[in-house]
Amino acid sequence: MLTTLYIALAITAVYAGVPNPEETKRLMDHLSDAEHYRNEHHNKQFDHDAFLGEDQAKSFDQLPPEESKRRLGMIVDKIDADKDGFVSLVELKDWIRYTQKRYIVEDVENHWKQHNPNNEDLISWENYKKDVYGFMDEMTDSEKKSKEGATYKNLLKRDRRRWQYADGDQDDSLNRTEFGAFLHPEDHSGMREVVVLETLEDIDVDKDGKLSLEEYIGDMYKPEEGESVDEEPDWVKQEREQFTGYRDTNKDGFMDEKEVMDWIAPPEFDHADAEARHLVFEADTDADEKLTKDEILDKYDLFVGSQATDFGEALARHDEF
Ligand SMILES: *[C@@H]1O[C@H](CO)[C@@H](O)[C@H](O)[C@H]1NC(C)=O
Repeated sequence: MLTTLYIALAITAVYAGVPNPEETKRLMDHLSDAEHYRNEHHNKQFDHDAFLGEDQAKSFDQLPPEESKRRLGMIVDKIDADKDGFVSLVELKDWIRYTQKRYIVEDVENHWKQHNPNNEDLISWENYKKDVYGFMDEMTDSEKKSKEGATYKNLLKRDRRRWQYADGDQDDSLNRTEFGAFLHPEDHSGMREVVVLETLEDIDVDKDGKLSLEEYIGDMYKPEEGESVDEEPDWVKQEREQFTGYRDTNKDGFMDEKEVMDWIAPPEFDHADAEARHLVFEADTDADEKLTKDEILDKYDLFVGSQATDFGEALARHDEF
């Protein structure tokens, strides 16, 4: 679903001559934000982003497997802070926190500079809107009415709302801290509500303001043509049970805003801890709850990407037909 949208955006960018690539990328990043909260399933990119930071993860994807492994080995040495030859759960959690923080700080820094070249204290909504969505003023009526036009309009609406949530002192301009909350709401507890709204809207296909079981599953999994519910992979069956038995707490058959909040942003949830546990669980061959360098390198495609992994996956998918 997201891929289609990316392509649609890219195409619009070309034929309308707008927006510039950096803006388009920001729009796309924006779109994928919410995806990050919930793609725990079988999404290698999610693990790679968590382990390396989004920017580094992208550059690893371009590397041949041997080089990717070599660099992973060097990272493992860094993660093993006490140099006892093992990566413990705590060391891995600290590392994930560190990479996430580094990525967010750099990302905010880059966007802040880009939208605020004279380094003023505030960015006004008017200027931000002109920067990112100014191209919409040049669109013809038919472009505005097209699917792409509607997509941009939605993004603008969403940005506007998110801006207002981030604008702590309500002066319609964001200072650097507030701008950080706007760009990375997942990192700011005050933004939980708008993150929930955005997530809900992304998944809510029929726009009735709540999630049905089918919408919830449809967001994570697309069945093969003609595949029946019985033939679904086990993790999808488990998600169905999760929805009914656990996520839909008031048992009305839907997830409302509050239930979506409990799902993606429970107050005490520690993403770094959850991700570290997941990685240890997947790679800990001898089940001693810590990882050796060999265990990590054996499962290198869990931690980092490389060209060949993706190629291998493409082949594997092809073979199924
Ligand atoms: C930005 O404004 C908020 C209030 O909305 C304030 O708490 C924060 O300290 C300010 N940050 C900077 C960098 O001025």
